[in-house]
Amino acid sequence: MSSYEGRWTAVTAEVQDGIAWVTLNRPEKRNAMSPTLNREMAEVLDALETDDGARVLVLTGAGESWSAGMDLKEYFREAEGKSDIQQERVRREASRWQWQQLRFYNKPTIAMVNGWCFGGAFTPLVACDLAIAADEAVFGLSEINWGIPPGNLVSKAVADTMGQRAALHYIMTGETFTGIQAAQMGLVNRSVPRQALRGEVTALAKKLLEKNPTVLRITKHGFKRCRELTWHQNEDYLYAKADQCYQRDQEKGMAEGLKQFLDEKSIKPGLQSYRRG
Ligand code: COA
Repeated sequence: MSSYEGRWTAVTAEVQDGIAWVTLNRPEKRNAMSPTLNREMAEVLDALETDDGARVLVLTGAGESWSAGMDLKEYFREAEGKSDIQQERVRREASRWQWQQLRFYNKPTIAMVNGWCFGGAFTPLVACDLAIAADEAVFGLSEINWGIPPGNLVSKAVADTMGQRAALHYIMTGETFTGIQAAQMGLVNRSVPRQALRGEVTALAKKLLEKNPTVLRITKHGFKRCRELTWHQNEDYLYAKADQCYQRDQEKGMAEGLKQFLDEKSIKPGLQSYRRG
């Protein structure tokens, strides 16, 4: 177990049995994302990406919130007195971890949504590969309720996950919905009672830990990019990714998988993973 204890203030990180538990840690402010938290999260993601002990990353929140979105005081109000360039820098630091680093993170990521999840928090939520919520979690696209359109890339994030009718309904009304509804809409993979949340996420993380990490990384990157390309571009791109995979995969997963299925007849890939050495 490696610990990053005391290294950051607005975030904590701890690595245990291959899983990096990253916790947004401003419970008294419902884990609202301040400029400090944004800067720290970029550092946390950088540090964990090169930590060989961290093979799956879980993003959660301290206390009763996942995150109440952007910090309305520190991110919005206090920006008013800042210069144009300073405001751009603060925005860039938010984007950096909330989607640029997270979306193409080199390790699998799971959002563990334990409670309140509002506005700007939808960007890192959707940037994580997978998401599991507590049934009791409360989500809201609340920007309309305090007078702005959805911030950062929230509209893009919900357009990529929720259906258009549902997304526009919640963006335009600011009504809240639960973890159960979030799962029904496809915003999260599933929801479970809050007391089962950590166990459910740990089980999912362990399943990912069993897979070939190179194949996993190239698979998720390929999927995310292919949504933005045409069919013709995808044919070139996805074949190139597959070729990259054969070259980069040091454990030669495909050869092993084929051997276990075709020669040894010891696995059925439709039903189980190949055994890794
Ligand atoms: N930005 C800045 N501060 C926030 C915040 C945010 N997004 N969300 C909560 N806080 C602060 C509150 O100002 C309060 O600070 P204080 O103790 O100094 O007064 C503290 O966190 C606790 O908030 P409170 O509203 O008392 O908690 P609650 O549990 O009753 O309600 C929420 C929780 C999340 C429903 C409520 O805080 C809320 O509506 N927050 C704003 C959510 C939002 O619209 N986010 C979109 C941002 S893009």
